[in-house]
Amino acid sequence: MFHTFELEASRSVNECPTDWVETPAGMMTAMSEHFDVHGGARLVGEVDVVGAKNSVLKLMAAALLAEGTTTITNCPQILDVPLMADVLRSVGCEVELDGDTARITTPSELSHRADSPAMGKLRASVCVLGPLVGRLKRAVVALPGGDAIGSRPLDMHQTGLRALGATSTIEHGCVVAKAGELRGAQIWLDFPSVGATENILMAAVLAEGTTVIDNAAREPEIADICTMLTEMGAKIEGAGTSTLTVHGVDSLRPTEHRVIGDRIVGATWAFAAAMTRGDLTVNGVNPHHLDLVLEKLRLAGAEVTPFDGQGFRIVQADRPKAVDFVTLPYPGFATDLQPFAVALSTVSEGTSMITENVYEARFRFIEEMVRLGADARTDGHHAVVRGVERLSSAPVWASDIRAGAGLVLAGLCADGITEIWDVFHIDRGYPHFVENLNRLGARIDRVTGNPERA
Ligand code: UD1
Repeated sequence: MFHTFELEASRSVNECPTDWVETPAGMMTAMSEHFDVHGGARLVGEVDVVGAKNSVLKLMAAALLAEGTTTITNCPQILDVPLMADVLRSVGCEVELDGDTARITTPSELSHRADSPAMGKLRASVCVLGPLVGRLKRAVVALPGGDAIGSRPLDMHQTGLRALGATSTIEHGCVVAKAGELRGAQIWLDFPSVGATENILMAAVLAEGTTVIDNAAREPEIADICTMLTEMGAKIEGAGTSTLTVHGVDSLRPTEHRVIGDRIVGATWAFAAAMTRGDLTVNGVNPHHLDLVLEKLRLAGAEVTPFDGQGFRIVQADRPKAVDFVTLPYPGFATDLQPFAVALSTVSEGTSMITENVYEARFRFIEEMVRLGADARTDGHHAVVRGVERLSSAPVWASDIRAGAGLVLAGLCADGITEIWDVFHIDRGYPHFVENLNRLGARIDRVTGNPERA
C-alpha cells in the first residue's frame, strides 16, 4: 500500500543555521541564504565540468601516504575542498589551495589523531583512516559527517582493516585502529562500498604482501585513486574492476595528478537539459562514465551525442517521456542521481517507478517535490511519480547536495518563483552552479535573509 507524504506543519529553526562560511572562491555564503528560482527557463549553451568532488577529497587523503608535496589539479571550487584541507592540516600537513590546484605537503612526522571539528562536516573525512593506518600503523579518526541520506555505518571499513591485522574499535566518537604490522589478506566486501574500498586500498598499499579486495566498488573515482596511487609507486591490479589486487610496497612518493571530471555534475546538466527541453553541450566529463544515464535520457526522448572521451551534447525537443530508474553501485544508476530521476519524472508524460537500493532515507526530499505540485508517493524503497504538465512554485528546503540541486531543476519547471532554502548544501557540491545556470538562460537570484517561516 502506498502512502502519500504528509507535509510538515512546521520546521525547527535549527534546520536553518545562520553561520557564515567562506567558499574557496573567496565568496561568502550564508546558511540563511536562499535561491529565488524563476520558472520557465530553457537551458541552452555550453558548460564545463571540473574535477569530481567524490574523487578529489579521497585523492587529498591519499597524499598522506607520501612524505613531500603532492599536487592535485582540476580541483572543484566547492566548500568540501577547504574542509578536507583543514582535516589534513589537523594531522600536520601544509595545504595550499590556489584556484583549481591543491598542494599538500606531508611531513615525515604525522599525527595519528584526526579528530578536529572539520571531521564532522563531511563524509569523505573518514578516508584519512586508511592512509593513517597504512603509514603510522595507528589512527584515531572522528566519525564523519556528511549528507543525511540514511544509515552510513563503517563496519566494512573496520572489517577490512582487521583482516589486514589491525584492531579497530569505536571509542568516544572515534574509530581507533592499531596494528603491529599490516599484512596483506583476502577481503570480501559484503557490498561494494565506495568508502570501505578506498580505506582498505589506501591501507593495503603499504602493507606487507598481497591484498585482494573482492566485490570492490567499481566507481570511476576508485579507478582515479588507483591511478594516482600507481603514480605514487603503488602496485595495484584490476583498477575499475570488482577485484583489486594490491602488492604492498615499503613507501610511496608524491606526485602530480589531475582529478577526473565530475560525472554526477555532468549528469545534473544532462537532466537539466532534459527537464527544460534545452540544448546543452557538457564538456570535461567522460561520457562513458554516464553510459546508463545517457541511455535513460535517450529513452525519455533526448537526442544525445557523446564526444570522444570528454563530453556530450544533449537536446530535448519535446516533453520527456516517463522512464523507470533503479539505483545500484556503478555501473548501475548512481544513488546520487536519484533526485534528478525523480525531478525529471515529475514533469514527464506518464508514470515512472524509481527504486532506491542504496540509502533508505534518500526519498525524504520527495516531500519537497510534493510542495511544488509533484504527484509522487513512496512505498518503502520505491517511489511512484505521475508526471504533471507543470509544477507550481513554493518555498522548499534542500536536505542534501543532490536533493538541493534536484529542487533547483524542479524550480526551473515550476510556474512562479520557487524559494529554495539551506542552499549551503548545494554549495558543498556544485561550483558556480547559479552563475552557470544564469549564463545558460535561467534566472536565479541568491538572496540573503532568514525565512519568514520558522
Ligand atoms: C560515497 C559517496 C556518496 C555516494 C555513495 C554511493 C563520497 C564522499 N560519497 O559514499 O556520494 O552516494 O558513495 O555511491 O564519495 N555501508 C555499510 N557499511 C559500511 C560502508 C557502507 O553498510 O561499512 C552501506 C551504506 O550504508 C550504504 C552503502 O553501503 O547503504 C553504500 O555506501 P558507500 O558506498 O560506502 O558510500 P560512501 O562511501 O559513504
